[in-house]
Amino acid sequence: MAGMTIEGVVEHGRRLGRELGFPTANMAVPDSVTAADGVYYSRAEVDGTLYDAMSNLGSNPSVGGAVRHLETHIFGFGGSLYGRTLRVELVRKIRDERRFATIGELRAQIARDKEYILELKDNTMYLDLTMPYKVADMSLAEWGRKEIEIAEHEMPGLMAVRRKYGPQKPLEGVRVMGSLHMTIQTAVLIETLVELGADVRWCSCNIFSTQDHAAAAIAEAGVPVFAWKGETLPEYWWCTAMALSFPGGKGPQLIVDDGGDLIHLLGGKCADLGEHLIGGCEETTTGIHRLYARERAGILPCPMMAVNDAKAKHYYDNKYGTGQSSWDAIMHTTNLMVAGKTVVVAGYGWCGKGIAMRAKGMGADVIVTEVDPFKALEATMENFRVMPMDEAAKYGDIFVTATGCKDVIVERHFQVMKHNAILCNSGHFDCEVDVAALGRLAEERFPRRQNIEGFRLPDGRILNVLAEGRLVNLAAGNGHPAEIMDMSFAVQALSLEWMAKHAPALEKKVYNVPAEIDDQIGRVKLAAMGLAIDALTPEQEAYLTGWD
Ligand SMILES: NC(=O)c1ccc[n+]([C@@H]2O[C@H](COP(=O)([O-])OP(=O)(O)OC[C@H]3O[C@@H](n4cnc5c(N)ncnc54)[C@H](O)[C@@H]3O)[C@@H](O)[C@H]2O)c1
Repeated sequence: MAGMTIEGVVEHGRRLGRELGFPTANMAVPDSVTAADGVYYSRAEVDGTLYDAMSNLGSNPSVGGAVRHLETHIFGFGGSLYGRTLRVELVRKIRDERRFATIGELRAQIARDKEYILELKDNTMYLDLTMPYKVADMSLAEWGRKEIEIAEHEMPGLMAVRRKYGPQKPLEGVRVMGSLHMTIQTAVLIETLVELGADVRWCSCNIFSTQDHAAAAIAEAGVPVFAWKGETLPEYWWCTAMALSFPGGKGPQLIVDDGGDLIHLLGGKCADLGEHLIGGCEETTTGIHRLYARERAGILPCPMMAVNDAKAKHYYDNKYGTGQSSWDAIMHTTNLMVAGKTVVVAGYGWCGKGIAMRAKGMGADVIVTEVDPFKALEATMENFRVMPMDEAAKYGDIFVTATGCKDVIVERHFQVMKHNAILCNSGHFDCEVDVAALGRLAEERFPRRQNIEGFRLPDGRILNVLAEGRLVNLAAGNGHPAEIMDMSFAVQALSLEWMAKHAPALEKKVYNVPAEIDDQIGRVKLAAMGLAIDALTPEQEAYLTGWD
């Protein structure tokens, strides 16, 4: 990439590098190199072989006086570098250069830098900023495009945003990065942000939730997307780092986070990429909890909008979306009858209510477990049985967790469950069902069918876990219908537009979506459904807001 790759002859190898444990190469830096001074994760090519390296770019007097030099420590290279031609690609700036009082302090910093660099990347997958995208299969792009076109008809809210703001381009040139399930519906959001002028990069927020045809279509449309279904965890973090790294080593200005992984990276390991961050949006309940925890600790890196808490989001997406798509995934994965089964729903929040309601509608006997007395009372009023998981574990045929909490179903529960019980999770993270403990308990674990793993216990019982305990509706299903995601994503798009305008005046806090955005989306949705509602007369309004 222009300005980020430096090629030259090694002028001198410094003893310092050898003392520190890495061969070191010093090279002059041509004026054409536009990269900012600092310490970089780099890749050095020596005689056709690529090595991970750490480079210090600047006019540090220890390197070469006022003239810019590049000092590169090459990991795992043993030979002499002096006089050789070296090609160094600056992959990512990791910190500003600073002076150390002793060689011991410098050595300790370099050890931390090296550890960070090696953690940042999977050893076999380099951050390659020349890579335009990485998806599973580009031949799926045509299919993805057809599905996107269908989804556009089902997403009138996002289309209204395009019509209203497309010509104004309120996000013109703004670097927007998203970490949110790379599905067909998300593709419609991405293309809406592009239409609003944004420079977008994307990855998924879950290793299983990408729809490969959606990712391929988005890549073909020219958006750098790094996502495929079935990523390993190192690949997941690689995709996130690739999507965060805009050309020139710059980070995003606005982010779309789902679950808090982006804020976690930008507030910590990838803080350098948060330099230009002005704000962002968080999609889900679990992510919002984490944002408030950061706000309380005073470590929120930028103002964030609680998209999940908008009425247009959680009233519909969490309740009706999760309610329908979780059962859709469970039913097509297991091909079991729901009627006549005992279903245990852990958590009677927005998602749990939808899941329990749909299970009841299909004829299941539903048990709810809760920790909140009022949610438990509400479930009772809806005629669900309420009891602790310790008891419910004995009765359930199908267990669905939706708490956002961890260790909801653990070893003592597995010990008493029925033979052939089905366990799955609709909460954001895979920590609700302790699948690791079940693995330790089991004599054998074996694939039963796609997305179903069987665990044979010593007494012969088999318990079945869907999608490794990851959110079942996306990992083993198609996610929410586009009609539902339309509302959530209209909130996202309008919140980003609002953030871009208001961010300079905001503090590093969590903000609620302005009521007029919520209201506007509700009205667009009603109109799209062909529904009209009454309007308050001025007299009624005065009556409702007055005191007599
Ligand atoms: N699968 C999806 O598509 C999807 C969609 C939206 C939200 N989510 C995720 O689902 C989870 C729940 O979201 P929500 O909006 O329903 O949250 P919520 O806060 O409305 O509900 C969570 C409920 O779980 C209860 N709870 C907490 N710990 C518990 C425990 N140990 N045992 C029993 N009950 C417990 C709480 O009292 C609360 O009533 C979150 O992780 C959220 O991010 C998933």
